[in-house]
Amino acid sequence: SSATLLRGRTLNFRAEPAGPEDTAAFCYIEDGAILIQDGMIVAQGAYSELCHRRPEARVVDHRPHLLMPGFIDLHLHFPQVQVVASWGEQLLDWLNTYTFPAETQFASPAHAARMAGAFFDLLLSHGTTTAAAFCSVHPTSIEAYFTEAARRNMRMIGGKVMMDRNAPDGLRDNAQLGYDDSKALLERWHGRGRASYAISPRFAITSTPAQLEAAGALAKEYPDAFVQTHLSENRDEIAYTLSLYPEAADYLGIYEHYGLVGAKTLLGHAIHLEPREIALLAETGGKPVFCPTSNLFLGSGLFDEGGLRARGVASGIATDIGAGTSYSMLQTLNEGYKVLQLQNQPLHPLRAFHWITRGNAEILGETHRIGTLDPGTEADIVVMNAAATPAMALRMEAATTLTEELFVLQVLGDDRAVAEVYVAGQPAKPKPA
Ligand code: GUN
Ligand code: FE
Repeated sequence: SSATLLRGRTLNFRAEPAGPEDTAAFCYIEDGAILIQDGMIVAQGAYSELCHRRPEARVVDHRPHLLMPGFIDLHLHFPQVQVVASWGEQLLDWLNTYTFPAETQFASPAHAARMAGAFFDLLLSHGTTTAAAFCSVHPTSIEAYFTEAARRNMRMIGGKVMMDRNAPDGLRDNAQLGYDDSKALLERWHGRGRASYAISPRFAITSTPAQLEAAGALAKEYPDAFVQTHLSENRDEIAYTLSLYPEAADYLGIYEHYGLVGAKTLLGHAIHLEPREIALLAETGGKPVFCPTSNLFLGSGLFDEGGLRARGVASGIATDIGAGTSYSMLQTLNEGYKVLQLQNQPLHPLRAFHWITRGNAEILGETHRIGTLDPGTEADIVVMNAAATPAMALRMEAATTLTEELFVLQVLGDDRAVAEVYVAGQPAKPKPA
């Protein structure tokens, strides 16, 4: 089939940059291009060279915009699209007051399908091309989620939440049913097209020991599936969790005991960790995921990225919609920057943009597919306009470096800065209604 050449300023990461002087870690090309064919990146380099090599390719000129890999969001909740911006509570009350009632509605296939259309439109309009989401307890929610993802050919990770206690009627499975439904959905969706399944016990509070044991058994049967859950987000949550599992050494020890902690385990929040838990993450490769807008919104606490890094633990970053307050990974970086500033850990913009692209892909173990502009990977690409709003345009008049431009994008940018997004080589930015 025919080849397309996207022309623009290109930014690709080879590794996490220490700073702007670390030029071996990234490749920025002022007049760059990405050659796409059959949904894949075939080549990436200087426009002058690629247009010469493939003169028949159709050229799409995105200058002066910045082309980079599509953003990756490692933790959010599909059935919480109507929970975003719910006032006044911290985690446990917020769940009971707003979240559980909203998730109950996803038993309806029609509701789930309508919300899935809106959810994927929101991800793409914000430049997010891959995400790992929790669905509701109902298999209908997973069907709607993966059906819509497949329709758009997006590389998405998801799972039916397993929860068999401390949740209202209509929102609980049981140990056997949670296992059976998860297994059937995993068999149906994992590896189908661009879908990956994540075994998703919500958190220890809403799972009995029998259910965590079943989840662990499933993880053992399917070692290439992901596991996702929540860890140590809130002080009251931790105290309640430890009262439910009095034998556990600590919160992470519960998941460890049931065989749920490994290199494919995504652990949302991971704010208030004991030294033993951090050592266990380093040893097992378990992945903490920083959710800054959510952590500030619910008053949960300050994620210690630098402390984890110093102990050999790499973190992901995510929106955590609907406790998170923005679908934008740019706004997630904006709030993340401030959380880290409060701990004297200033996040350099080059590291920030590495984080939401290649960094999160590394956390997933998927850099061979997504997160870079490397030849042989899938053509999920965002086109960024750092002068998208009057405030951004004015600030950009005074910007002279790539670092400044990236920082303007991360502090002032949101969906308005996303000029276009490509999914498997096809333009996919939703049209405004
Ligand atoms: N812990 C368990 N469930 C949830 C959830 O839906 N959102 C957040 N932020 N934390 C949780
Ligand atoms: Fe969450």
